[in-house]
Parts: sequence; structure tokens; C-alpha cells
Amino acid sequence: MNAMIEADSLNKTFRIAKRRVGMLGGLRSVVNPEIRTVEAVNDLSLHVGQGEMIGLVGPNGAGKSTTIKMLTGILVPTSGTIRVAGLVPTLQRRQLAAHIGAVFGQRTQLWWDLPLIDSLHLLRHLYRVSQERYRHNLQRLSKLLDLDEFLDTPVRQLSLGQRMRGDLAAALLHDPELLYLDEPTIGLDVVAKARIREFLLAMNAEQGTTVLLTTHDMDDIETLCPRMIIIDHGRKLYDGTVSSIRERFGGERTLMVVLNDAEHAEPTYDAKGLPRLQDLPNGVHVVKAEGPRLWLSFKDSKLPSYELVAWLGARYRLRDVAFQEPEIEDTIRRIYEEGLLLSDRINK
Ligand SMILES: Nc1ncnc2c1ncn2[C@@H]1O[C@H](COP(=O)(O)OP(=O)(O)OP(=O)(O)O)[C@@H](O)[C@H]1O
Ligand SMILES: [Mg+2]
Repeated sequence: MNAMIEADSLNKTFRIAKRRVGMLGGLRSVVNPEIRTVEAVNDLSLHVGQGEMIGLVGPNGAGKSTTIKMLTGILVPTSGTIRVAGLVPTLQRRQLAAHIGAVFGQRTQLWWDLPLIDSLHLLRHLYRVSQERYRHNLQRLSKLLDLDEFLDTPVRQLSLGQRMRGDLAAALLHDPELLYLDEPTIGLDVVAKARIREFLLAMNAEQGTTVLLTTHDMDDIETLCPRMIIIDHGRKLYDGTVSSIRERFGGERTLMVVLNDAEHAEPTYDAKGLPRLQDLPNGVHVVKAEGPRLWLSFKDSKLPSYELVAWLGARYRLRDVAFQEPEIEDTIRRIYEEGLLLSDRINK
């Protein structure tokens, strides 16, 4: 796979003048302001191949937007190296612009007072898109994003979902190979979110566009990104597939079983009032019971899930079994909370 983003050991430190209240009640001291430094991005390396869709996840202030801004050339890294589409963003920003598109969900790149179509037209000139390509792309994007009904509406009158669709069209008019999306579904309702996700999946499948997206919405990640990077305090905590995150950090997994009533008719109960199953394998516990339904936790057992089901099947008549995986959201919260402790395990 060809590399689209190659970033190594990125650091970004902001120096902020800390305003102190001076001695003269309320007057701010402007002489010798105390300088505070914020390490927004700390030794971050990031490699993304052509055609990948990758999610960048982290709590507020983790350094996600700062990372994207360095990758677009808007911000200069304090140290580290970046190549995007083979170009150095800060030195070749103009050439790079032809290869990338960006949508910052919190801010629009459209002109508030102009009808959407006029913004798109202006962007065509900025990006020097030929008339023919513009016509072709506008038609395609209008269809996919359903822009027709509001192309003539001033941007300030658009709903958030419409505005986001307009912004996506604006970012894609010049056929970039790489699209940065910084919270593209923020504030949208479920229908609008689903529509944006569908669009992005189709775009990636049809055009092969590489996508790097930040989001706080784990459904975005689960629908769109086979791979995710978790960062906090500017440091990488995880880089890998979304599916393996559950296996490695998922914590509790539970098996729900429905036993045949007859065999469960007169169970004995433990001190917590939960029904006792005879001779459960080591480390397997009944954690909840509702009628014939039992929930078994087996996080402390070495038993693979299929063996637990086989073990139960050999002793009880099972009417139903279902595994309950922890929500990815809970898993990620755990990773934030345990932070760097986990990153040691991740990097092994
Ligand atoms: N221009 C700036 N000047 C000073 N500090 C900044 C600047 N931009 C970002 N920071 C700081 O850098 C850190 C990372 O900010 P960043 O915006 O990258 O976080 P984020 O992961 O995008 O968070 P969010 O999820 O809230 O969007 C924060 O502590 C922030 O206050
Ligand atoms: Mg941000």
C-alpha cells in the first residue's frame, strides 16, 4: 500500500502568556507575563496508507485538531517530520492543497452570506478546477449529498446537517486523494449522521479517497474506520484495528443463557440470591438472573467462549445463548481512564 501520510515523532508545543491579576486590584499584569507551555502533541507518529479510512479518537484537548492542522500545513510542528502525498505540508502548502480536502465540523469554509452554489463557484476558482470537471463533480456531489434543494440558499440559513453536506461538497470539488474530517458529524441527528456516513463509505469505495477523521462518536468509528488511533495528552495510546480493541481491552464479557425451565425449576441459591449452577468451571460466575435467563461472567476464567457453551450444553438443555460484548464506548473510556498504563501494554 502506498503511503499517504507519513508523520514521525511529531511534537507541538504552544506557549501561552498566562495572565495574572496584578497587585492593583483587577489590573492585569502585562509586564513579565508568566509563560505557560502546553504540549498539545507529544512524540506522535502516524502512518496512513492510500485508501485507508482511519479514526483519530481522544478526549477533549487530546491534540486531535492540532494533529490535523499540522498535517494540512496550517500549523508548523515544533519538531518531527511530515510527508503527506509525498509533500512537506509547511513548505509545499500550495501544492498540497490540490491533494487534500478538509472539513472542520465546528467551522465552515463556506461564505455565510452567499448562497451555497456561489461558495462552490468561488472554490472552483480558488482550486483552479476546470469548468468541465466542476460541472461533472457538482452534478455527482449534488446527487450523492442531495444538495439541489438548498443550493440557492444562503449558508447562514442552512440547517447544520445541510451545511455539513455543503462543506463536504466544497472539500471534494477538486477530487482530493485525502480528506481530513474534524468532527464531521458533530451536532447532527441520527438520520443526518447516517447519511454522511453512507456518503463517506461510498466515496471511499468508489474514488479510493483516503480519510482521516476525528470524532467523539464511536458509531462513526465502528461504521467507517477499520483502524483507529487513540490519543490523549498528545500521546498515542492505541493504534490498531477497532475489532482487536475489544478483545484486548474489553474487560468483562458475559454469556447470557436461557436454560430449559424444567431443569431450572428448583435451583439452589447462593448468598446473593443468585441461582447456583452445579460445578461451574473455575472463574465462571452467575452475575444476574431473571427467570430462566442467566448471565454468566467468565472474565476470570481461561475458558474460551465456545468451550463454555460446550460445557453448558453437555449439562443443561439450552434454549438460547448470546454473548454480550462490552460497548466499544465503555472500552475506550477505560483506555482514557487507565491511559498510559495501558499504552505500555499496547506498545509491547
Ligand atoms: N492555538 C493554540 N494556542 C494555545 N493552545 C492551544 C492552541 N490550540 C490548541 N491548544 C491546546 O492544545 C491542546 C490540544 O488541543 P486540540 O484542539 O488539538 O484538542 P482536540 O483533541 O482537538 O480536542 P477537542 O476534542 O476538544 O476538539 C489543548 O490543551 C488546547 O488548549
Ligand atoms: Mg478538536
